[in-house]
Amino acid sequence: MTSERIRSLLAQMTLAEKIGQMCQVQPHGRDQDEQVRAGHIGSLINVVGADAYHYQSLAVDQTRLGIPLLLGRDVIHGFNTIFPIPLGQAASFDTAAVREAAAISAVEAGLAGVNWTFSPMIDISRDPRWGRIAESFGEDPLLTTQMGEAMIDGYQSQAIAACAKHFVGYGAAEGGRDYSTAMIPSRELQDIYLKPFKHAARAGVMSFMTAFNEVDGLPCSGNPALTRDLLKTGWGYDGMVVSDWNSITEMIAHGVCANTEDAAERGVAAGVDMEMASRSYFDHIENLVAAGRVRMADIDDAVLRILRMKERLGLFERPYGPERQHPGRSHVITQARDLARKSCVLLSNNDTLPLGGGIHSVALIGPLADAGKDMLGCWVFDADHALNHSMLTGLRSKLGDRRVIYRAGLPDARSMDGAMIEDAVKAACAADVVILCLGEDEGLSGEAHCRAHLELPGRQMELLQRVAACGKPVITIVFAGRPLLLGEVLEKSSAVLMAWHPGSMAGVAITDILFGEPPTGRLPVSLPRSTGQIPIYYNHKNTGRPPAPDAPSIPSGTPLDPSGFFSTYLDEDHRPLLPFGFGLSYTSFVCEDLRLSAETFTVTDDLEAEITVINTGSRTGSELVQLYVHDLVGSVTRPVRELKAFKRVLLAPGERTRLSFHLPIADLAFCAADGRFKVEPGRFQIWIGPNASTGETAWFDVVAQKTDDDSADPADAVGKTAAPRKTGSTGV
Ligand code: NOJ
Repeated sequence: MTSERIRSLLAQMTLAEKIGQMCQVQPHGRDQDEQVRAGHIGSLINVVGADAYHYQSLAVDQTRLGIPLLLGRDVIHGFNTIFPIPLGQAASFDTAAVREAAAISAVEAGLAGVNWTFSPMIDISRDPRWGRIAESFGEDPLLTTQMGEAMIDGYQSQAIAACAKHFVGYGAAEGGRDYSTAMIPSRELQDIYLKPFKHAARAGVMSFMTAFNEVDGLPCSGNPALTRDLLKTGWGYDGMVVSDWNSITEMIAHGVCANTEDAAERGVAAGVDMEMASRSYFDHIENLVAAGRVRMADIDDAVLRILRMKERLGLFERPYGPERQHPGRSHVITQARDLARKSCVLLSNNDTLPLGGGIHSVALIGPLADAGKDMLGCWVFDADHALNHSMLTGLRSKLGDRRVIYRAGLPDARSMDGAMIEDAVKAACAADVVILCLGEDEGLSGEAHCRAHLELPGRQMELLQRVAACGKPVITIVFAGRPLLLGEVLEKSSAVLMAWHPGSMAGVAITDILFGEPPTGRLPVSLPRSTGQIPIYYNHKNTGRPPAPDAPSIPSGTPLDPSGFFSTYLDEDHRPLLPFGFGLSYTSFVCEDLRLSAETFTVTDDLEAEITVINTGSRTGSELVQLYVHDLVGSVTRPVRELKAFKRVLLAPGERTRLSFHLPIADLAFCAADGRFKVEPGRFQIWIGPNASTGETAWFDVVAQKTDDDSADPADAVGKTAAPRKTGSTGV
């Protein structure tokens, strides 16, 4: 829908003003005053506070048409108050908490003049070497979709535009190396990588960002089959598309454009409405239009989309944003603490946690024990560091200064200097219990921060080994922007808590858990045993030679006598160290008596599944009950399991409840051999349980209907839409 205001504005605009709308620039101080006044800029990136207000007032009061600016910023997991990194937020499996965190971040950013965030990042991430896995919601399409929708809703409820990025396949970078080539088979692109984006478009996300990478030879900022044919025409998306930083002119380095002029032509043709940072649109579009290489209709379409976004944000009425009230410090802190707690995943617990009142002294050890800034993780430009709570501040606020003996053990997380280890060991041996804070500092994940080695950095393993040798209970808290190799950490510790980078409230939130608040997080990614297993993800294919189901579990590095020719390793277990969805609590649960509403369904039916969940332990706790499905025989191979639903249930000791799940059979659709997106009749296995590698199971059949319109959603079928392709090869 285009309003009368937008149409009439477009009619009044000169070509130069239209091109201006398509340009996003990063100012240095106030060096863009003249450009803004001339109407040569539609959006600024990385201006906040007084500068944001300054530029907005220039655009509104001093340009010919008074069109307000989009003011973009990477508000990724908080603005002043920092929430857990997105991977940690995903571990909460709590969409309401994630939505609220986004809404709070939006208010804080809005108060600083920002009206557009480049979030959520909904790239499926199966490779923990990739530094940006920290910004992702992990490996699963359903979880990523739901987290993405929650964030979009949270930001946009507070008049901050969200941005679905990076369209598409950026998380599949070869070797986990940032910006690297993504090789994604077309069916996998549709079933796995595109899914969260399609839902984001449906959820009304106001913008999309094209990815740096190529897919099958086509850089994503110059692929009309992706942005024009699929997104805009196929999915009917009427929002706007921005490039990533310089990704238009990077098509020269990719080797598909000879110069910046070609790059601008290709970007506009692909339907990239706004260029971020590089200036090829500004420099060349006018000439390209004159030469007939860029169509005026494409320019008008881009400008309409940009103006529409400004209108949807209400910027024409309120260029500085709506009246905003900070939700109050105590509410914000409570939410940040709550989500930090919910993001922590208890990986092991040898009856050590929770800590009781009988603890007299705690040795708090490790290079990340007093590292408030490292608790925040990547992308925290605007953090209020006065809010930071390290483990040291958190523990001391609970136990007082005298009962907490702090030793860093190492100068910093990456250090090879072992001079402080001995002193830390002495402190450990003298205490009742040791809390060891290990992992990655904030600079080891995020954009262009990839790692080929996923062991604990520096001499941290040696510190753990030496401390563990004291024989005291060792609770290891792992802070990291990604899954690390934790096999030996699990062996040597009495309990291990995976805390990711929990944000401003890290220390107090984790202290809550250590002293009794039940941990509830679950892994949003599989934990590998060794880097050689990567990529490792639960929803893989079965292969023609799946490993025997009872294949022995072997410790990492043990040579295995091959007892058959199966899809496995000689020197490593083929299974993850811990599966997707895994997480312990302070009690235990049993799931039993799974019943389905029928044995046979048609494609338009809904399946109801019921299961009894019992708290068999002695503490109150909540279980995340997960529902997975396997399509046993398809026209193409299907994943061994796919997450289709999850529910959290809180139970007192001994309490039991009957939990029901609702699964529309249409949710079982996939891109079949004929290229259509549909549910295929046949047999299915269902599991309901605590993670991706176990659960109560049952089977059901799906049968064809007489009036068989088996297409669940024709618009899903990439390349099957009515829109003609503009290039020979689609890459999708
Ligand atoms: C590059 C990153 O890939 C993208 O995610 C981010 O939003 C932009 N830079 C702007 O900072």
